Amino acid sequence: MRSMVRETTLSVDRLIAPVFLMEGSGIERPIEAMPGQVQLSVDRLDGWVEKLARSQVRAVLLFGIPSRKDPEGSEAWRDDGVVQRGIARLKSLSPELVVFTDVCLCAYTDHGHCGRVRDGKILNDETLPLLAKVALSHARAGADFVAPSDMMDGRVGAIRDSLDGEGFGDVGILSYAVKYASAFYGPFREAAQSSPAFGDRRTHQMDPANLLEALEEARLDLEEGADLLMVKPGLPYLDVIREVKRTFRRPLVAYCVSGEYAMVKAAAAKGWLEEKAVALEILTSLRRAGADLIITYWSLDVAEWLTQEAG
Ligand code: PBG
Repeated sequence: MRSMVRETTLSVDRLIAPVFLMEGSGIERPIEAMPGQVQLSVDRLDGWVEKLARSQVRAVLLFGIPSRKDPEGSEAWRDDGVVQRGIARLKSLSPELVVFTDVCLCAYTDHGHCGRVRDGKILNDETLPLLAKVALSHARAGADFVAPSDMMDGRVGAIRDSLDGEGFGDVGILSYAVKYASAFYGPFREAAQSSPAFGDRRTHQMDPANLLEALEEARLDLEEGADLLMVKPGLPYLDVIREVKRTFRRPLVAYCVSGEYAMVKAAAAKGWLEEKAVALEILTSLRRAGADLIITYWSLDVAEWLTQEAG
C-alpha cells in the first residue's frame, strides 16, 4: 500500500553514471576518497559497459585525466584525447548509451584552473573559445550532450554557436548552470587530478549563501541555449533545486557530488550509517525536491538495490 501511494519514484532511467578516463592501458585504479569508484583506461571500458547494460543505467558522464598538462589545457580538445577516444569506444560498444561529457579545463591545465590565467587571474572571455573547441571535439567524437562545468559567463552561448556552426545542432547542452563554490568537491579533485595550484574557484563558482543568483544563472543559460539545467551539489541545495524547477519548469539535473558520496561511504565503513538506506533516501529527496535526473556515483548500486527491493 505504501508504494501505491508513493509520490516520488526513483528509477535507473533517471540516473547518470560518472566515469573517470585515464591515458594508458590496462588501468583500473581505485580512487581512495571515493570507495567503489575507479579511474579507467579506455580499453577497460568494455567491462564497465557490460555492468552498465546489466544494471540498465542508460546515461554516462565522462571526465578525462590527461597525461600531459599545459597552461591552456590543449589536451582537452585533441581529437585523439582520452575523452574523445572514450566517447568513440562507448558508442561502438553501446550505441544506445546516452553520452554526456564534462567540458572544463581544470584537469588539463598545469595550474588547475578552469580557464586561461594571466597575472593570477582567470580570464573569462578569453576562455570561451577554448571551451567551444573542447565541446566541438566531443561532438565530433560522438557525444550526445556536452556539459560545461567551468562556470565562465557566456560559455553556453559560445558553445551553442560553435556546435551549430559546425553542423552539430542536435548535440545538446547540459549546463552546470547553478554550480556552487563547494567544499563537497574535495574527493573529486583527487579523482580528476584537478586541484587548483593556487587560489580557489570563488571568482566564478557561486556563493553557497545565494539563491536569487541561482535563478539568474539559470535564466542566462537558458537564454543562451541550454537544454538541461543542473544544480550542484545536491543534498545541501534542495531548496535551490525546488526553486529552479518551479521557476523555469525545464528538465533539471541534480549532481550528487563526490563529497556527498564520500561522507556516506566513510560513515558506513565505520558502521555508523547504513549506506543503501541513506543513499536511497538522499536520491529520493533530490527527486522530491524537483530533480528529473541525478548524476550519482551510486548509479550502479542503485540499479542493484532497486532490483533487490522489487524482488
Ligand atoms: C570540473 C568539475 C568539478 C566537479 C565536476 N566537474 C570540480 C570542481 O569544480 O572543482 C565536481 C564533481 C564532484 O565533486 O563529484 N570543473
